[in-house]
Order: sequence, then structure tokens, then C-alpha cells
Amino acid sequence: MAGPQRQRQPSITAIIATIFVLGLGLNIGLIIQLPKNQAAPTQPAPSPSPAPAGNASTTTQISFKPPSTMPSGHKADAIKLGQQLFNNTHSMLPQYNLDQLTCSSCHINGGTDEKALPLVGAATQFPDYTSRDKRVINLSQRINECFMNSGNGKPLPANSKDMAAIEAYLSWISTGVPEDTKPSWIGNGSGSKLTSSLPKPDPKQGQVIFQQTCAVCHGSTGQGVSGPPLWGPNSFNAGAGMHKLANMAAFVKNNMPASNPGSLTLQQATDVASYVLAQPRPPKPKS
Ligand code: HEC
Ligand code: HEC
Repeated sequence: MAGPQRQRQPSITAIIATIFVLGLGLNIGLIIQLPKNQAAPTQPAPSPSPAPAGNASTTTQISFKPPSTMPSGHKADAIKLGQQLFNNTHSMLPQYNLDQLTCSSCHINGGTDEKALPLVGAATQFPDYTSRDKRVINLSQRINECFMNSGNGKPLPANSKDMAAIEAYLSWISTGVPEDTKPSWIGNGSGSKLTSSLPKPDPKQGQVIFQQTCAVCHGSTGQGVSGPPLWGPNSFNAGAGMHKLANMAAFVKNNMPASNPGSLTLQQATDVASYVLAQPRPPKPKS
């Protein structure tokens, strides 16, 4: 009995070994196949659009749709106050907003005009890193940058009722823009990117355009009449975003003259912006 048993043992081992080797072979086959499948997919990749809501990598598909009806819940009082402060900044907060502008002088129609520095979706961008300050700032700090430069004033206390109201208003107009998304209209200068590079500015030509087209509302010395001041002591200071030629040229191209927006060429808008920016205004505040 010892002989056959001794003979059967190796053969069972051989079978197990064969199964093991076959299995291993199959496994190796799978292991080798996997990366191949990943490298060269035979199935077409799923269509990249429309972007699913909340997907941070594809964000340009969100449509521009600020809310139209004020909520009636407990937040409504703060939102309404914020809207009033946004549209009447200087008259309601003269000790903080020292120039004659309101937030909506530039963020036209309460920040809901797609071509005029829209703030729809801006609230969801913060906290964020800014290259301007080289640090991460929150929404109230960003609002205060506009108070200090565009408003040529002083920062609104971060824990004040008024700051909370402006934040509530900006959050409300961002309704429907998912967190962690950057809509296409955000952060591109004046709400609509310059599609071509900025032309060479001619401030002399700009002066002619200004007196013909802009002075009727902004005053022949830029002091403001029915439109807000464009230079002088009651205008934004040299640290403001609007003080950058590309920003003002795009803003003017898209929004001015208010009576006939879009009537100027980009060259004319650039010329008139260069003339306006060559005039005196309050200096950039020391930080
Ligand atoms: C003189 C024009 C002007 C006025 C007035 C103004 N802003 Fe701005 N604001 C800008 C410009 C231009 C930018 C774009 C960024 C930049 O280059 O500074 C901007 C950017 C912002 C941003 C950041 C938007 C983003 O997507 O990152 C917020 C928030 C903001 N403004 C709020 C306000 C509030 C609140 C007020 C009123 C207290 C105000 N602004 C008044 C011109 C203005
Ligand atoms: C019919 C009146 C009118 C005319 C003409 C007009 N604007 Fe304006 N402008 C306004 C008003 C009003 C605002 C404030 C935003 C709003 O409510 O539309 C404004 C805002 C502005 C602003 C941003 C706020 C500020 O004070 O810096 C700039 C810059 C500007 N206009 C430049 C111009 C230039 C340049 C021209 C000529 C090409 C021009 N505007 C012609 C009425 C006018």
C-alpha cells in the first residue's frame, strides 16, 4: 500500500500545482489586462456635458439665473436690508463709503446684470485665495476691499448687522449656484471677457469721446450728474479694480453710455477709459 500511496501523493500535488499555476496564470492575465483596458478604452467616454450639479471640474454649464422673488422666511429682513445698502451705499453708510458711489454703480442692477460685474455666484467663491493680497480671504473681507478702494472708505466691522445683511443679500442672489463651482461669468474683469487683446489707448481721442458721449451724465469734469462721479474726490481711488484699464474698457464697452450700451467700439471704449484714468482721484490707501 505504501508504494501506490507514495505514487498518488505527488500526482495530487501535481493537480493542485497545475490548478494553482492555471489560476495564477489567469490572475496574471487579469492583472496585465486591467491597465491595458484603462490605457485604451474601447468604450467611448461618457459625454462631458451637461455638467452634473456640484461637479467642481466642469463649471461653465451653470446658467445665469438670479432669483426674482424675495424669500418670505426669517432671512428676508436681512436680505432686504442688504439690498438697500447695496443700492444706496453712500447715503446709508456715509461714514464707511466715503465716495459718492453705491455698490450698484459698478455691479449694476444689484449685481444681477450679467455684463456689469455680476455678483451672482460670488458668495459661493469664498473663502478664496486672492493674488491681490496673496492670502485666503472670506466674503466679508472681499466686500471690505470694495468699501476701501471702490468706495474710497473704511472697512465695515465684520460682525456688524450691516455686513451680515450685505452677505445675506449676496448669498441670496447666488441661490442655485452650487458650492465649489466657478461659473463662467465670475472673475473675468467686467462680466464679459475681452475677446480680443486690449487696443493701444489714445487718451486724446478719449477726451473727445468723453465730452461728446459721457459728460451729459457724468459731468464735463467727471464730477457726476445723473451718473456717478468718474474722477475727483468723490470717485473710486487708485487701488480699485475699476482703476485697471482693461476692467474699465470692458465695463464701458459692455455698459456705457447707459443710454445706448454697446454703441462704442473696443478702441473707443479703451480710449475713453484711458482718458478717465489719467484724471486725478484719491490715492490707493496704504495697507
Ligand atoms: C468703482 C466700481 C465698483 C464699486 C463701486 C464696487 N465694486 Fe465690487 N468690484 C469691482 C470690480 C472691478 C471687481 C472685480 C475684481 C477686481 O479686479 O477688483 C469687484 C469685485 C467685487 C467682489 C468679488 C467678486 C468675485 O467674484 O470675486 C465683491 C464681493 C464685490 N465686488 C462687492 C462689492 C460691494 C459689496 C460693493 C459696495 C460696498 C462694491 N463691490 C462696490 C468694482 C466695484
Ligand atoms: C445716460 C447717462 C449716462 C451716459 C451717457 C454714460 N453713463 Fe456711465 N453711468 C451712468 C449710470 C447711471 C451709471 C451707474 C450704473 C447704472 O445705474 O447704470 C454709470 C456708471 C459708469 C461707470 C462705473 C461707475 C463709476 O462711477 O466709475 C463708469 C466707469 C462709466 N459709467 C463710464 C462712462 C463712460 C466712459 C461714458 C461715455 C462713453 C458713460 N459712462 C456714459 C450713466 C451714464
